[in-house]
Amino acid sequence: MSKTIHIKTPEEIDGMRAACQVAAEVLDRMVNFVKVGISTQDLDDFGRDQIKEFGATSSAYGYPGSKCKYPAYSCISVNDELVHGIPSKKRILQDGDVLSIDLALYFKGFCGDNTRIVRVGRIDPIADQFSKVAEDALLIGISKALPGNRIGDISHAIETYAIDHDCGVIREFVGHGIGREMHEPPSIPNYGRPHTGPLLKAGMTLAIEPMFTLGSPDIYVDQDGWTVKTHDGSLAAHCEHTILITNSSPEILTLVKK
Ligand code: MF3
Ligand code: CO
Repeated sequence: MSKTIHIKTPEEIDGMRAACQVAAEVLDRMVNFVKVGISTQDLDDFGRDQIKEFGATSSAYGYPGSKCKYPAYSCISVNDELVHGIPSKKRILQDGDVLSIDLALYFKGFCGDNTRIVRVGRIDPIADQFSKVAEDALLIGISKALPGNRIGDISHAIETYAIDHDCGVIREFVGHGIGREMHEPPSIPNYGRPHTGPLLKAGMTLAIEPMFTLGSPDIYVDQDGWTVKTHDGSLAAHCEHTILITNSSPEILTLVKK
């Protein structure tokens, strides 16, 4: 993979818009499918069918990992699971669960990647506030995605917001450039110093994805080789949009058009 950050042509930007719209729509349908009593496998099966209905393909399925290829169509991470939760028939969603659904797909040669936090039933107000911090941090990070700024400006804004709200900031996983491939340069950490890192330019497309914990930021990978969990069992939060840098405000490509 080349290290240079590709500036998308107008045609490529249209391709990204289309892929991201499909990714957002599929994710939105999955979010609406969530209810108490279904398994995360049911939710993934539903997502798989929706991806197919749009003529898209999952970017997660078959993704190479240290132990095995990723075996599902989305990542569904519940409560103390941070990212890459493998859907399971045994994991039945319960009242009070907070989950993130991470859905990335390829559509007509381009990748759209997005993650939303879903609250199941009545949830603990602390969990709700914590999830909101991650959602707000995402928007704050996006607001720094301006030409002339640097990656570090996005990173720093996200980190500062997390620290101000007493959240643990994950360092092992980061956001990324995106285009024809799901993961392209640059890396977008959720921590960093202002005015450092690659310069942002109109035409770049980025997947920004804050990842926080309510307790210690220590994490580990489960025996399944994928599911990342907090060491202390505290709640974890993850959300994500794919955005386009423009000459004015950034365009959030994975917002659902109603
Ligand atoms: N959307 C995730 C990311 O940005 C990718 C999950 S696919 C997986 O990295 F196969 F790595 F789980
Ligand atoms: Co991503």
